[in-house]
Amino acid sequence: MKNILLVLLLCIIFFPEGLAQSREVNYDESKVPQYTLPELLITTAGKRIESKEDWEKVRRPELLKIFSEQMYGTTPGDKIKVEYTVLEKKQGVLNGLADRQQIEFTFSSGDKEIKALLLVYIPATAGGKVPFFIGYNFKGNHSVDTDPRILYSEGFKLVKEPGHPDWERGSQQTRWPLEYIISKGYGVATMNYHDIFPDKDGLKDHSIVSLFSGYDKSPQPSDEWQAIGAWAWGSGRILDYLEKQSYADAAKTVLMGHSRQGKAALWAGAQDPRFAIVISNNSGSGGAALSKRVYGETVKIVSSIKPFWFAPAFNQYHDNEANLPFDQHQLIALMAPRPVYVASAVGDRWADPKGEFLSAYHASPAYELYGLKGIASDHMPEIESPLHDGAIGYHIRKGVHDVTAYDWEQFIHFADLHFKR
Ligand code: GCU
Repeated sequence: MKNILLVLLLCIIFFPEGLAQSREVNYDESKVPQYTLPELLITTAGKRIESKEDWEKVRRPELLKIFSEQMYGTTPGDKIKVEYTVLEKKQGVLNGLADRQQIEFTFSSGDKEIKALLLVYIPATAGGKVPFFIGYNFKGNHSVDTDPRILYSEGFKLVKEPGHPDWERGSQQTRWPLEYIISKGYGVATMNYHDIFPDKDGLKDHSIVSLFSGYDKSPQPSDEWQAIGAWAWGSGRILDYLEKQSYADAAKTVLMGHSRQGKAALWAGAQDPRFAIVISNNSGSGGAALSKRVYGETVKIVSSIKPFWFAPAFNQYHDNEANLPFDQHQLIALMAPRPVYVASAVGDRWADPKGEFLSAYHASPAYELYGLKGIASDHMPEIESPLHDGAIGYHIRKGVHDVTAYDWEQFIHFADLHFKR
């Protein structure tokens, strides 16, 4: 008992913020505040959008600007030089199912360089262009498979303890069921997200952001792009590379992001219409979930745990969701008319599954402008009864925050339907 009290006292002294946060988190549906969602199809000047032309000309750019200025930061327009060095080409990996390539990207500006490593699997039987899943991995390229020849990158080494560079090898295999994806005829291109922006305090100088003009401007602009903006930018660079490869059908790319990478995938897809399908898996607060529900992770928490994820302007909505002039259904709508998929897990209350679903539902009117079906009802589907018949897909599965075989089965089924495979 004495020990428990001592631990509690130490927690209060050293982690007051943490305790305050855990007290603030709401998991009670009856305590979700009354809210009105910002209009999707009414412009800031008050005009109702009734055609896809007006959506594309007026409302879509307006929403992109709002998300840039107030949430993710403005992506600079500089063209950063990139060189590609193929480090490995190996046939017949994954029990003969795939060919593997490892490519080093060197981004440069002036005399500064940042390196990133892309790992690509191409179905061995393809003999033509194949559709691709693009996605960042969290723990190094070598975490997706046990093969000792898979290299790990500069970014990964930066954030990991020196002396144990190999300890993640194969550790993320369940999140990357490569043989299954390949057997369905899709290629896979994955990169470690730390290569683009190391996800650790104090490493911004090692991120691609540091290659852009005006880096480290002081005072920091309120719409400064940060890690999520950089990760979104980086996925576009992976697509640039695939566009140049004879084995990739670059018009059929699916960008898949889990959790913080789900947030980045939605932001990437919103800005770059080349991504044919965008998938958010358990992306939660700052991703698919509606912020105004203040359920699970709040704006204050998501923008405080890693203060370098969002633009500084987003901080004005700490404990102030009611005054948000935008919400995440508008982000999902920016994918229209391209198919978009939102996936939740029952045990992932932190990410607010209902808020993720409602945001997908409320994005539907943008799809309807194109004569497409989004999600027809605001009643959440049953567990593991996926909605795949519209341009907005959704499922909620049992289990916790993760990417599972079940999730991949749904993603591939949805992509097959939309690519008419
Ligand atoms: C934390 C964070 C989430 C994020 C998640 C992840 O839980 O609070 O916002 O999505 O990490 O990326 O795994």
